[in-house]
Amino acid sequence: MSNVIAVVNQKGGTGKTTTALNLAAGLIRYSDITSSCLIIDMDPNGCASSTMLGKVETGAPQRSIFDVLRRAITPHDGIMSTVFSENIDILPSSPHLASMAKTQLFDRLKKVTEALASSYGWIIIDTPPNLGVLTTNAMVSADYLLIPSPINGLSVGTLRQLAAHIDMVRNNQNELLQVLGVLVTMKDARTKLNDKLVKEVKEIFGKDSIFKTHITTNTKLEEAPGEFQSIFSYDSSCVGATLYRDFLKKELLKKLKAMEKRRAELIEAKY
Ligand SMILES: Nc1ncnc2c1ncn2[C@@H]1O[C@H](COP(=O)(O)OP(=O)(O)OP(=O)(O)O)[C@@H](O)[C@H]1O
Ligand SMILES: [Mg+2]
Repeated sequence: MSNVIAVVNQKGGTGKTTTALNLAAGLIRYSDITSSCLIIDMDPNGCASSTMLGKVETGAPQRSIFDVLRRAITPHDGIMSTVFSENIDILPSSPHLASMAKTQLFDRLKKVTEALASSYGWIIIDTPPNLGVLTTNAMVSADYLLIPSPINGLSVGTLRQLAAHIDMVRNNQNELLQVLGVLVTMKDARTKLNDKLVKEVKEIFGKDSIFKTHITTNTKLEEAPGEFQSIFSYDSSCVGATLYRDFLKKELLKKLKAMEKRRAELIEAKY
């Protein structure tokens, strides 16, 4: 069975795609589930797809997650290999995904992740910067959510709105959905997080909700996608690689273990 992690934040440019790509690359390297990883790119802009396929897409790809969601092809037929890693595949995005925004098809992606669950150790879903039908599909399909966010004056209101949306999904479509936490991104290495804002975020998502590793602004993290590489293969000793590695090895994998246990207990209590 795959662990399905959706990377979400309805605000643009918070480091979702950067985190999703490096999370996939890091999980393959550092988790003890050694089987492969699938990225599902639910953002019509397709940044994750361009980076992973090693080309800047012009127009719609030959096959995409859109074709899978509209049931023109099977989930397996939509999958492509990546230049990123031989252990990471992708269901690429298409600009046509945007047309799903007007639909009420909230559980299409869940059928896809269920069909592919036995083929991958991890499924990572990258999402667009809104709380529309595409992000909701990701939340309905996911076991866990990871929220990359700068912690600044503008982000707290966004996070409150995100928490309300997560509650709505939990109440209606996915009661086992768990939030792994908020990963602080784009932080200026020289400044401290604002205590008042940190307290507010902890009130929204819980006292252990902010990962202790903060991803600082790092030029290498910005350069790596242009070279179609993860930060670990682009420059494994740079600050960005060290921080994502620490986040993964010291925190995320441990939290995932605890949450998997919690998930099993919830399932047992339910059935
Ligand atoms: N820690 C970082 N240091 C420097 N640049 C970063 C960092 N994280 C991400 N970036 C850069 O910031 C930009 C936005 O990051 P990214 O695309 O990951 O955000 P996003 O949340 O996926 O954006 P969108 O909402 O538009 O999909 C990109 O150019 C990326 O390379
Ligand atoms: Mg993105």
